Amino acid sequence: MTRGSISSAFLDELRAKNDIVDIASKYITLKRRGNSFWACCPFHNEKTPSFSIRQDGQFFKCFGCGESGDVITLIMKLENVDFLTAVEMLCKNAGIEMPTMAENDEMQRKKKQRDIAYQILKATTEFYHKNLIGAPSSQQAQYLQSRKINSEMIEKFQIGASLNYDDLPKYLLSLSFNPQDMINAGVVGKNERGGLYDFYGTRLIFPIFNGFGDVVAYSGRSVSEAPDHTKYKNTPQTIVFNKSEILFAYNFVRDLKKSHMLDTIIIVEGHIDVIACHQAGLTNTIGCMGTALTVQHAKKIKQLVDNVILCLDADNAGRLATYKAIDILKEEGLNVKVVRLDVNKAKDPDEYLKKYGKDNFMDMLSHAQDCVDFVLSDSAKKYDFNSNADKNKYIQEALNYISKFSSPAEQEIYLNYVQQLVRIPLDVLRQSMTKKETKKVDTRHDEKISETVNNKYIIDSKIMLLAAILYKKITNFDEISGIFSPDDELDELSDLYRFLRQKVEEKTDFNISTLFDNFEINDKSMIDRVINYNFPDDAVFETMIADTIKRVKLYMLQEEKEKYRNLLIKSETDDERLNYLVKIKELTDKINKEKQ
Ligand code: UTP
Ligand code: MN
Repeated sequence: MTRGSISSAFLDELRAKNDIVDIASKYITLKRRGNSFWACCPFHNEKTPSFSIRQDGQFFKCFGCGESGDVITLIMKLENVDFLTAVEMLCKNAGIEMPTMAENDEMQRKKKQRDIAYQILKATTEFYHKNLIGAPSSQQAQYLQSRKINSEMIEKFQIGASLNYDDLPKYLLSLSFNPQDMINAGVVGKNERGGLYDFYGTRLIFPIFNGFGDVVAYSGRSVSEAPDHTKYKNTPQTIVFNKSEILFAYNFVRDLKKSHMLDTIIIVEGHIDVIACHQAGLTNTIGCMGTALTVQHAKKIKQLVDNVILCLDADNAGRLATYKAIDILKEEGLNVKVVRLDVNKAKDPDEYLKKYGKDNFMDMLSHAQDCVDFVLSDSAKKYDFNSNADKNKYIQEALNYISKFSSPAEQEIYLNYVQQLVRIPLDVLRQSMTKKETKKVDTRHDEKISETVNNKYIIDSKIMLLAAILYKKITNFDEISGIFSPDDELDELSDLYRFLRQKVEEKTDFNISTLFDNFEINDKSMIDRVINYNFPDDAVFETMIADTIKRVKLYMLQEEKEKYRNLLIKSETDDERLNYLVKIKELTDKINKEKQ
């Protein structure tokens, strides 16, 4: 996480003067439990508290939605403000001065760049929108009309038109915007001769909004038959647009949430599908813009609702995207339902609405299928149940899928579902599944897998040792030197080790919240596991540490010995062999010493 160039010393002071528990209790009701404070998470919907704050570490973490951070991040999220504003608010609260400008030049520069990009995007959106409204006989306006999009939607979605390649850059220059800034905002390109051109020239323009309703990008739909025209031209990654975080119409759906009118979100593929749904009154519809849903998307959805309905295109691509989306959404704890359109009736929600009307569409949504039922019944279609071999293959596939669910109740529900499809007694299915699970455990003895088990042990041990340093349960680094490799640049845990070691050597007192300035921390990162390590009783822990250090060292020595053994086998000269033999002897001695 980069936090610009406000010095970490200043941030440490700021955090020291703004206790996270004090600050948080201005917004939410905290209850103390053991070492931590708990509340219902302000960032997602929940009834039992999974949002926790550690006063000793000065950080928060929600075990439900995975959000975590220090007091600054907390303010950024609670107040929906950027980093600098959050710092300003906390300075005010603590009665300290903001750091001087020189200290945060880089930050200011970035903020300024973003501000300019937003201004350019705002001017561009207005320009395109005026074009469309002012030219009702243009190809773009005619196309919209042919798709039956009404003027209320044209306003709501700020739809626009680019009529040619030249007017936009000219217009933006007349507003004194700088060409490089236009290019950075993703609205203008530069040709070989250095001339500027409208990036979405001659297209119908759908602005893409961020969660606050600011335009951050565009999708330009081709309205001509020209063969070199791709259907959509989209804004690439820019300083204000990250495709994997933005969902089309999320801003409108978020507004519904504010007025407490939101329970379920409908996910469709295309822009026109979203707009057609909104036009039909289904204002809880968002679009994934034809790309695969990401974990970030799923998290954003989960912040608003617990229930989603996937209604993607009827073609095979839509079917495969449905499978992928189910996995991602389910992983975030959402209840997922699925509507699959009949390809013979309509290719997408827009066409369905036009052909069969809103009532039929709503009816279909209200009968949406549970996502696991969908996977189980849809994958059955590949097989011919009149053939025993096929039926058996399907049962194996289905049981495999079901065995991955951690809850026995969930497994039971879906076994019942499979039972109805294959008409084989439930007991038999249950037995086959138990066999499968035992088999899974047996394969653990495979060499490869046991290697990863060992790796897992090492990683778990490293996590525990780092947590011990972080929470100041170990202060003597000599004990664990050698465990963290100094040269492994890519290893997150070694990075953390080096960071902590440096802090201790510099004798600077550090707080856990400092980590958020220096590392990318999310619920997939190892560092997150270090921060949230649960210590057993102190007495148990002390022997555990000594034991772990010993075992990890032993393991590493054995690994190294193994390496030299392999080299020995492959060695070609006597010199080499002698060299390896000496190494192996040294390592054997060390191992024996360690074992004592
Ligand atoms: P579709 O091809 O289904 O487009 O792609 P559509 O918007 O529904 O248009 P119609 O109804 O078929 O005429 C779905 C979405 O995939 C993205 C767009 O976001 C589109 O809305 N897409 C599609 C692209 O980004 N680029 C493309 O070339 C095609
Ligand atoms: Mn479509």
